[in-house]
Amino acid sequence: MSEFYLGVLASGRGSNFQSIIDHIKLKVLEKVRISILVCNNKDAYALKVAEQNGIESKFIDHRNKEREAFDREVVKVLKDHNVDLVVLAGFTRVLSSYFIDEYKHRIMNIHPALLPSFPGLHAQRQALDYGVKVSGCTVHYVESGVDIGPIILQHAVQVKEDDTEETLSDRILVFEHRIYPKAIQLHVDGRLKIEARRVKIDYSDNWEDIWEKRQRAFIEYQKYKWEREGKPLDKVL
Ligand code: GRF
Repeated sequence: MSEFYLGVLASGRGSNFQSIIDHIKLKVLEKVRISILVCNNKDAYALKVAEQNGIESKFIDHRNKEREAFDREVVKVLKDHNVDLVVLAGFTRVLSSYFIDEYKHRIMNIHPALLPSFPGLHAQRQALDYGVKVSGCTVHYVESGVDIGPIILQHAVQVKEDDTEETLSDRILVFEHRIYPKAIQLHVDGRLKIEARRVKIDYSDNWEDIWEKRQRAFIEYQKYKWEREGKPLDKVL
């Protein structure tokens, strides 16, 4: 069975990166290997996550470089590692059209709001300040611009009366960690078709039931992990 190579780009703590790794280790995400992590912040915890999991990583500094020059360096590394799909996981740089053209509709991003609401930074704070009663997370293909591009999956969560930015972010994060791997598997399985702005998903042959069954192993593990961090999921959700 041939494998699909992912290149992950991250700038921060790397929890979505970790969740993708967990899905691979638990054999939820199939036919996939992470061939490289690229990081533009040398202090990013994501680099430690890569090291702890035996994944090759590369730090590329974006400072004092034109946007496209930086992107060319990143694309070169991705190509050297035969990357089929680029996964942005908390990557804080906006991609140039050079990068986007090189990997047209083969770049995904996750955003902690229901796009097109609240693009950009601090999406959870924006949602609270606006006063919405429902927010959530979105996985989308990347096109030029900030947090735009055809939407693949979304998951909604309730905003609670006593939510703070932290509690809302946590509730959303639980689902980020579940829907990003699902979107990746759909792409890898060739089940996503982009028609104008719409992504048509082929769920034939019980794809979703089969996925949900496989993902139960991750959800059990996720419960245990959050509990261990002192944030039991029954409180977070
Ligand atoms: C996540 O909330 C993601 O939606 C946003 O950046 C954050 C990254 O978190 N794009 P992590 O580095 O994956 O923990």
